[in-house]
Amino acid sequence: MTQKTKLIIAADTKKFAEVKTWIEIADETGQMIKIGMECMYALGLDNIKNLTKNKRFFLDLKLHDIPNTVASAIGSLSVLNPSMLTIHTLGGEKMIKAAREAVNNYFELQQRPLLLGVTVLTSMDQSNLYSIGIEKTPLDQVLLLAEMALENGVDGLVCSPQEVFYLRERLGKEISLIVPGIRLERLASDDQQRVMTPKEARQAGASWIVVGRPITKASDPRKIVHTILEQIQG
Ligand code: C5P
Repeated sequence: MTQKTKLIIAADTKKFAEVKTWIEIADETGQMIKIGMECMYALGLDNIKNLTKNKRFFLDLKLHDIPNTVASAIGSLSVLNPSMLTIHTLGGEKMIKAAREAVNNYFELQQRPLLLGVTVLTSMDQSNLYSIGIEKTPLDQVLLLAEMALENGVDGLVCSPQEVFYLRERLGKEISLIVPGIRLERLASDDQQRVMTPKEARQAGASWIVVGRPITKASDPRKIVHTILEQIQG
């Protein structure tokens, strides 16, 4: 895979000042940040709007509810103008279609965020799947949900390092694949069970990698960002 992989810094914090710093680092290096549940719920819509004004950013709230509620939530979030936003594919065909329509209706064509589907959470292993009545392997379940989600209008998928290669092979080079679970070395894996280095993720076909703690907990986050960029741009 020779496509250019980009970096998303996961701004997992409750502190306004920290998000601001990570946005500065993302701006300096031409990359973007991810706002997830922790940050959104702690700081609120107005603060996030303020921080991300005129910036490209990934809004990762993993929406999952009845179709009408998800569509309305996308309407509420459209004031933020994110470049990407996530829904859970387990919400099913109707929910995904409703999300697609909401994105098309609430955003101008030029400003439409990529609608991304989350398939099986990386925290779910085979025994977790059994316990909720799913007998497929995690990879088969991911492939099933990925194809269903694409048929119903998502632009791309969030996937684990385990799946990115198979999804890229199966779905072709146009689809956006966003990959968290990245570590500079395989040893320092925090609570991510299965990890890849930035270079491995690029080789496996990631369009974007999402990196949180290795950057945000580093004593010199800029240095880590540059090291990652060398790996994914090299
Ligand atoms: O700190 P770390 O690099 O592990 O952060 C990973 C980020 O990616 C977190 O914001 C987490 O919510 C997100 N993520 C994940 N696994 C998924 C989907 C998203 O770790 N399957």
